[in-house]
Amino acid sequence: MSKTYTITAALPYTNGPIHIGHLSGVYIPADIYARFLRITGNEVVYICGSDEHGVPITIKAKKENKTPQEIVDRYHKNIEESFNKFGISFDNYSRTSAKIHHKTASDFFLKLHDNGSFKEITSEQYYDKEEKQFLPDRFLLGTCPKCGFEESYGDQCEKCGTSHNASDLIDPKSSISGNVPSLKSTKHWFLKLDMFQDFLKKWILEENKNYWKSNVYGQCKSWLDDGLKPRAVTRDLDWGVPVPVDDADGKVLYVWFDAPIGYISSTIEWAEKNNKSWEKYWMDEKTELVHFIGKDNIVFHCIIFPSMLKAHGEYILPKNVPANEFLNLEGSKISTSKNWAVWLPDYLEDFPDKQDVLRYVLTINAPENKDNDFTWKDFQNRNNGELVSVLGNFINRVVVLTKKYYESLIPDPNTLLSVDNDVINSANESILKIEQLISNFKFRDACTEFMNIARLGNKYLADEEPWKVIKDNPERVKTIIFVSLHLSSILAVVAEPFLPFTSQKIKNILNYKNHNIDWSWKNLKQKQFIVSNGIKINEPELLFSRIEDSEIQYQIDKLKDNI
Ligand code: MF3
Ligand code: ZN
Repeated sequence: MSKTYTITAALPYTNGPIHIGHLSGVYIPADIYARFLRITGNEVVYICGSDEHGVPITIKAKKENKTPQEIVDRYHKNIEESFNKFGISFDNYSRTSAKIHHKTASDFFLKLHDNGSFKEITSEQYYDKEEKQFLPDRFLLGTCPKCGFEESYGDQCEKCGTSHNASDLIDPKSSISGNVPSLKSTKHWFLKLDMFQDFLKKWILEENKNYWKSNVYGQCKSWLDDGLKPRAVTRDLDWGVPVPVDDADGKVLYVWFDAPIGYISSTIEWAEKNNKSWEKYWMDEKTELVHFIGKDNIVFHCIIFPSMLKAHGEYILPKNVPANEFLNLEGSKISTSKNWAVWLPDYLEDFPDKQDVLRYVLTINAPENKDNDFTWKDFQNRNNGELVSVLGNFINRVVVLTKKYYESLIPDPNTLLSVDNDVINSANESILKIEQLISNFKFRDACTEFMNIARLGNKYLADEEPWKVIKDNPERVKTIIFVSLHLSSILAVVAEPFLPFTSQKIKNILNYKNHNIDWSWKNLKQKQFIVSNGIKINEPELLFSRIEDSEIQYQIDKLKDNI
C-alpha cells in the first residue's frame, strides 16, 4: 500500500566536515530507508540541511578570527558535497541560516509564546566579566555531576551523554578565558515541558513501547521517570535566530529549539521549489514522520521536539525515531578534537570510486543496537572477501559466460528443473525478508540478506558447472545462464537502497532499459522474470577491485600521524 513519508536525517553541525560515524549512524540508514520506500512505490520527502547555529560554531569563528557566517559557508558547501558524492539522496538540503528558516522558526516561537506554552523566568546565569558575555552551553566547562568528567559542557557531558543545566556543573569555568564566572541576572523563555509529561508517558511508554527501538525507549523512560521540568529555549548570544518579541535584545533561540524546526523549513523550501504543498508532509495524520538520529539526539527528538509540535497543535508527531548507537574507530571513540576520525573528503581523495564500498561496510557493521567498531582491516576484508569475491565475482561470471556462449544475447531457457526452482524460490524469499527487515529498520540484516542472493548465485553456478555441461548438454546451459541472469537482475534492483552506484552499473551492464518488462520492485515481485530472452547485454565491467595491504597500512599510519 502506497503511503506518504517524511524522512528526516539529523541536521549536521556546520563546524567541520562529515566523518564515517555520521554516515553510519544517520545518513546511510536514512538513505536506505528513503530509497527503499521510493522504489516500492511510496511518496517520500527526505529532508536535511546544515545546523548552523549553536555555540561550537561561534567558538570556532572566534578561534579563527572569522565570522560565524564565514565558518558555516565553508562547511555547508563541504558537507553538501560529501553527501552528494556518497549518493545520499536528500530531496532537499537546506541550512538554518536561510531566510526561510529564520521566518519559520520565529513564527513557531511566536505561536508558542502567544498560546501560553512558555514561562518567562529571570535568573542568575554565569557571566564572563572580562569577555562581557554570558556563558551558555559550551561556553561553560566544569565537572559533570553525573560521571565526574572534568571537561563537561554547560549543557551536555560528552563523556556520559547526559544533558544538564549549567547550574548543575561543579567548579564551572569560562571556556573562552578560563575565568571563574560570576553571576548576572537575565530573562529567558522556558518551554513548559511538564505540561506534556502525561501525554508523553502514554504516547512513548505505552503506545510505542513495543514499536520503538529499546535503546530509544530506555532513554525516554529515564527522562520521563525523572519528571520533566520547564526548559530554557532562549540564550544570551548574538549568533542564531533572534528572539522575536520585545525586550529580547541580544537573545537568540536556543539551537536545539531552532534546529529541528529546520526539518520543517527545509520541507517548505523544497515544496516551494517543486510547486507542492508542504503541509501534507507535516500536518496530515496519514503521513509517517520518521527521524533518523544518533543516540545523543534522542531526548531532543523524542521528548522536546514532540512537545514543541504538540504545543503548536497543528503538527503530526514522529511515527518512529530509529536512533543508532555510536561507531568507534580502531577501538577508540571517534573524536573531532583529537582528529581520530575518517573524514569523508579524505576518504574520497584516497578512494575516489569506492563510495559503495564504504556504504556497504558501514551498513553491514552499523551500530544499530550497540556501539560498533570500524577497522581498516575489516574494511579490506569486506571489500576483498565479499564485494569482490561474492557480488562482483558472480555478476562477472554470468556476464562473461553469456558473452562466451551466446555472444551476449540472453538465451531462451528450457524447462526449469527443481534445482532451478529452488534457487528462484529462495531468492524470492530473500526479497520478502529484505522488505520486512528494512521496514523494521534492520538494515544490517537486510544488507546481509541481499548478499545472500549473490552467495546463492555463486553456489548455483558452482553446483551446476555450466562450463562442464556445455560439452554434452548445451540446451541445459541455456537454462542455467538464464536463471543466473535472472538472479543478476534481482541483485541489480535490490542493490539500489544499499549500493546505488553498483545497482546502476549492474543495470547498465544488463541493458535494463531494453527488456520487455520495466525493472521495478513491483514487477520483480509480480512477474516471474524481469529479464527477457533475446536481449543483448553489454560488455563485462568490473564492479569492485581488490584493496591491497599497503593501502590499508597507509590509512592506519595516516590515522596515527594525525594525532
Ligand atoms: N546538529 C545536531 C548534532 O549534530 C543535530 C541536530 S538535529 C535537529 O548533534 F533536529 F536539531 F535538527
Ligand atoms: Zn558525564
